[in-house]
Amino acid sequence: MKFLVTGGAGFIGGNFVHYMVDTYPEDEIVCLDLLTYAGNLETLKSVENKPNYKFVKGDIADRDFIFDLFKKEKFDVVVNFAAESHVDRSIENPEIFVKTNVMGTTTLLDASKEYGVKRYHQVSTDEVYGDLPLDRPDLFFTEETPLHTSSPYSSAKAAADLFVLAYQRTFGLPVTISRCSNNYGPYHFPEKLIPLMIARALDNESLPVYGKGDNVRDWLHVYDHCVAIDLIIRKGKDGEVYNVGGHNERTNLEVVKTILKALDRPESLINFVEDRKGHDMRYAIDPKKLETELGWKPKYNFDTGIQQTIQWYLDNKEWWQNILSGEYQEYFDKMYKEKGRI
Ligand code: NAD
Ligand code: TYD
Repeated sequence: MKFLVTGGAGFIGGNFVHYMVDTYPEDEIVCLDLLTYAGNLETLKSVENKPNYKFVKGDIADRDFIFDLFKKEKFDVVVNFAAESHVDRSIENPEIFVKTNVMGTTTLLDASKEYGVKRYHQVSTDEVYGDLPLDRPDLFFTEETPLHTSSPYSSAKAAADLFVLAYQRTFGLPVTISRCSNNYGPYHFPEKLIPLMIARALDNESLPVYGKGDNVRDWLHVYDHCVAIDLIIRKGKDGEVYNVGGHNERTNLEVVKTILKALDRPESLINFVEDRKGHDMRYAIDPKKLETELGWKPKYNFDTGIQQTIQWYLDNKEWWQNILSGEYQEYFDKMYKEKGRI
């Protein structure tokens, strides 16, 4: 089978490319990525010369380019990871989120329809369900939870999901959607909570925790996410949505303290700063459908996964230090220094 993996130079897409190239040497993996600030070919260095792998640079929202690529390559399966993925950036500049996350998705759907793709898989997020209150730990997101978004990021992801489902109903395109909770693991871009805190703690710099740090996220190791997507593509039913998460809820403060403890750094580095606008309180996934229908079982819990992840950042300093030394600095100044967050 021939796979198109979009956004494969990013965090989750990169982990998925590694997983697929290594697990299925008989399949062909074409990685398409625009190499925005979040895309990094260093992430793909160790697969670069594998015979079943190829990289193509391009924009999922560039219709002519995408149609030419689909005509030439005749993909069997499309897995769409490509997106603008950071909530804080979506608050600063929503428009690119519409272009990439919505129009990029409809362009891929049109090309998939035109060139007879056998499975289109959309990588979505639990953020499309909005948030849950902190005082109702009995509530979880199921696949039936209504879409109720908070940020420009989650709104664009929800719009994309609705287009994916519409293409199944209207045109009979074979689609699946996965909605996962917050991922963590190797190759995570250091603008997101966990890698940002690891990198700053290692440099003994202050750790900007939004609000009171009591927001809850349900952490999923990226390896377990990749296994889930593979299962859904191969065994999932057309037109179905599958939630992915392993009941690993932690407050942000708990996560930050775990990192400090593992790195032997003092809690005095924690700095409570102005909250994010519209900040979702709690995400929590009910993964029963994926577990019972497709037999998914996560390998990591948060306690084992976070230690493995911290070790990866210690062993791969060059990967993230190269990022910190580039245009990232401008982003950090704008989002943290100029807002008085550090
Ligand atoms: P990321 O920001 O690390 O990577 C996104 C990748 O997409 C980058 O390599 C970037 O260069 C590429 N890209 C951006 N615009 C593009 C375009 N127009 N054409 C081609 N490539 C483009 O994101 P991630 O964290 O790996 O997330 C991957 C997917 O998973 C996204 O769709 C995101 O919404 C979803 N998701 C992520 C999380 C998470 O915790 N990271 C959780 C739930 C869902
Ligand atoms: P993030 O990694 O941006 O993921 P998401 O917003 O998609 O959940 O943030 C995770 C949580 O950490 C979220 O509640 C916001 C919080 N956070 C901070 O407290 N400080 C930071 O510097 C960042 C980036 C996030």
